[in-house]
Amino acid sequence: MLQGKKILLGVTGSIAAYKIASLASMLKKRGADVTVLMTENAVNFINPITFETLTGNKCLVDTFDRNFEFQVEHVSLASQADVFLVAPASADVIARAAHGVADDMLTTTLLACTCPKLFAPAMNTRMYRNPIVQDNLRTLARYGMEVIDPAVGRLACGDTGEGKMPEPETLCEYLIKALTPKDMAGLKVLVTAGPTQEKIDPVRYISNHSTGKMGYAIARAAMLRGAEVTLVSGRTSLEPPIGVRTVPVVSAADMAQAVKEAAPAQDIIVKAAAVADYRPAQAAEEKMKKGDGELSVALARTEDILAWLGAHRREGQFLCGFSMETEHVLENSRAKLQKKHIDMIVANNLRQDGAGFGTDTNVVTILTENETVELPLMSKEDVADRLFDHIMKYRRP
Ligand SMILES: Cc1cc2nc3c(=O)[nH]c(=O)nc-3n(C[C@H](O)[C@H](O)[C@H](O)COP(=O)(O)O)c2cc1C
Repeated sequence: MLQGKKILLGVTGSIAAYKIASLASMLKKRGADVTVLMTENAVNFINPITFETLTGNKCLVDTFDRNFEFQVEHVSLASQADVFLVAPASADVIARAAHGVADDMLTTTLLACTCPKLFAPAMNTRMYRNPIVQDNLRTLARYGMEVIDPAVGRLACGDTGEGKMPEPETLCEYLIKALTPKDMAGLKVLVTAGPTQEKIDPVRYISNHSTGKMGYAIARAAMLRGAEVTLVSGRTSLEPPIGVRTVPVVSAADMAQAVKEAAPAQDIIVKAAAVADYRPAQAAEEKMKKGDGELSVALARTEDILAWLGAHRREGQFLCGFSMETEHVLENSRAKLQKKHIDMIVANNLRQDGAGFGTDTNVVTILTENETVELPLMSKEDVADRLFDHIMKYRRP
């Protein structure tokens, strides 16, 4: 996604400026052509040489610098840029940008750019909450610029609160989002992910090896393509993707309830969670003490969420399930497709190298009523994208 993209990074006078060195390096390693523009004040925080070394491009500070490559550098840069991120965005630059001020290289180039423009405000919490700053941020949003919510945490000034610039990895995700074509804009997508935990007693539960990686990749792919995404997730150690509404759940019953609540509004539902088929019939109130003999725990069936969705789907809603098998993968998956009245099943074989739980890759076969599409080994991100390519082809709005 970033390969060959022309990215402008605007750096302003904030302590967080040093973090943009990591971002510039990360983008460069992923094949982007990165140019950094700094305010005069930003130069007090980090030296332009750092950015020039990391990006291989001249770092631009002075609008009237005579040592230029292009005829009118800010216009030339602006017309070629694919995306412009101002990070950290000081209260001062936010105010100038909101009012069309063009008094340095960064703000002049910003005005000349027609590409997507993003701002990552970074400042002390009281500055950030100041109604004038908030008004200026709303003005930027009104003019179509994306304002990235600051993180909450310990700030360089010693205060704790909102105003912290998101980490470079998160900023990189916003850039990828800005650069991804929005063929799913206007669609609502529900994704389930991760394992469920079925309580035996206050210290024990039945679960499975799902890490949630496949489901999170699916939620991310839909978000990047412009969909409004709800992610119902069992417990995982993963960071939810940016811009996704996450509903945390624990048990299969919790997941069923969250899915039923969200389902009616959805255009597409992808169920990638590993939901327990059985739960302890009775969860003990107190920790079960060990005895000398064997112990059996009676199990009861959990609700089949996919079958419920198949029976309650609304007109035009597209349903996709996942099927993890260890034998007769295609036969079992096709039977599931028909029995549950859904549109698509993504089958993966736990026994196949590079597929299954915890891996960053998967090998899947996409089954619909009339088609069987075998995909080769690929990253879970690529599987997610291919999945939506197929869903967008098959769905009848
Ligand atoms: C040590 C230090 C840290 C600062 N950090 C921030 C900050 O995080 N956010 C901010 O808006 N201003 C911060 N400022 C104030 C700005 O640097 C100041 O408003 C400056 O005029 C911004 O200029 P610029 O927007 O042209 O870069 C800081 C100032 C100092 C001395």
